[in-house]
Amino acid sequence: WPATARREDGELVVGGVGVRELAAEYGTPLFVMDEEDFRGRARSYAEAFAGADVYYAGKALLTKAVARWVTEEGLKLDVCSGGELAVALAAGVPAERIGMHGNNKSERELRRAVSAGVGRIILDSLDEIERLERISAELDRTPRVLIRVTTGVEAHTHEFVATAHDDQKFGFALSTGAAAEAVRRVLDAPHLELVGLHSHIGSQIFDTAGFEVAARRVTRFLTGIHQDMGVTLAELDLGGGLGIAYVSGDKPLDPKSIADSLTSIVRRECEDAGLPVPRLAVEPGRAVAGPAGITLYEVGTVKDVEGIRTYVSVDGGMSDNIRTALYGSEYTSRLVSRESDADPVLSRLVGKHCESGDIIVHDLYLPADLRPGDLVAVAATGAYCYSMASNYNHLPRPAVVAVRDASARVIVRRETEEDLLRLDVG
Ligand code: LLP
Repeated sequence: WPATARREDGELVVGGVGVRELAAEYGTPLFVMDEEDFRGRARSYAEAFAGADVYYAGKALLTKAVARWVTEEGLKLDVCSGGELAVALAAGVPAERIGMHGNNKSERELRRAVSAGVGRIILDSLDEIERLERISAELDRTPRVLIRVTTGVEAHTHEFVATAHDDQKFGFALSTGAAAEAVRRVLDAPHLELVGLHSHIGSQIFDTAGFEVAARRVTRFLTGIHQDMGVTLAELDLGGGLGIAYVSGDKPLDPKSIADSLTSIVRRECEDAGLPVPRLAVEPGRAVAGPAGITLYEVGTVKDVEGIRTYVSVDGGMSDNIRTALYGSEYTSRLVSRESDADPVLSRLVGKHCESGDIIVHDLYLPADLRPGDLVAVAATGAYCYSMASNYNHLPRPAVVAVRDASARVIVRRETEEDLLRLDVG
C-alpha cells in the first residue's frame, strides 16, 4: 500500500483524499495513483543508480502525466511500441531521452523513431539491423543503437516474463555466437552507431544472483568485443525486473544494494580487461509504478457458497487486472470505505466477467458483514494493470486518477459507451 491513513470511521485516505470521495466523484472501478509515492520511487532509483541512466519502463504504466513525472524526476523513458512513443512525444519528453525496444518493431515505428531522433534504439534481430540501416540511410540519419543480448540466465520468475534463457524470442544469444554476429553486422552498417549492449533477464525478480550472473556475462562479452574487434562500447543497459511486494511474503531488493553490486561487477570485469567502465543504464518499470497504485472497486454481490467460501463480486475484474488469471499473481485487498468488527471469512474477490477464471484475489479474508455498496481496494496495481486492460465483455476501461496533497485529478478519463462504439462502423 502507498502511504495511506484511515479516518476515524475507517475510510481509507490516499494522497490525502478519502476513497469514498474518489468513488463518488470519479466512479469505480478506479485506478488511483499516489503521485508522491510514484515520484519518490523514481527518485530513489535515480539516486541509487547515480551516474547511470535510469529509464522508466513505460510498459508498466504510461500516460502523459506519468511521462512528465519521470522526466521531471530526472529519469529517461523506455518505450516498446509506436503507441508508447506517441504518448511520450505528446507528453513533451525530449526524443533523445527515449529508448526504443521491441522484438518486432515495424517499418513505421522505426521510421518514426529515427525521424523523431530517439536517443537509443535497442536492436533485437538481424532483420531489424538490416531494416534500420536502410531506413536510416534513406533519412540520412545515424541513430545510436544497443544490441540486446540474451545471457542464458534462467530468472526465477513466471515463464511468461523470463527473457534471458535460450528458448524465447528476444535478443541475440551469447552462447550460440548470434550476439557476436549481430555486433559485426551493426559495425558494418554505416548508418548505425553502435554504442553498447543491453540485457534484460525478466520481471518480478527477488534474488540478486540472476542479475549478477547476467551482468558478468554481458560485461565479459563487452570486453571480448574490445579484445577481438578492437571496439570499445561505452554503454551497458542491464534492463529492468526488480520485484515488488504484492503480498507479505514478497521481499523486494533494495535499489541501492543491487546498484552497488551490479556496478562493482561491471567495474571489476572491465578493470581486469584494462577497459574503461561503460556507462550503466537500468529500466525499472514495476518497481516505480506498481506500489504507487491501488484499484478501487465497489462490491456488487456477496455470495456465500455454503461450506466453501464467500464470493465477493466487484464492478471490474480481469479486464482491469488480467494478472491473476494470466500469471497466477497474488494480491491483497481490504474493505476501505468503513470499519468493520465482523469476523473475517474466507473469501474470493472476483469480477463481473462471464467466466469463472475472472478472479482478482484467490484467497483472502474479508469481514463477514461485507455488503453491496462497500468499497474494496486492491494494492500494488500501479504496474501492468491499466496498461494491460482490455474491453472484454465491452466493459469501458476505468479512469486513472492521480492524488497528491489532498487533491485528485483525472489523468486518463473513464471510457464511455460512446468510446466503445466509436470504432464500430457497422
Ligand atoms: N526492460 C525491458 C527490455 C523489458 O522487457 C521490461 C519488461 C522492463 C525493462 C521492465 O521490467 P520491470 O522492471 O517492470 O519488471 N506483464 C508482465 C510483465 C512483463 C514485463 C515485460 N518487460 C506482468 O504483469 O508481470
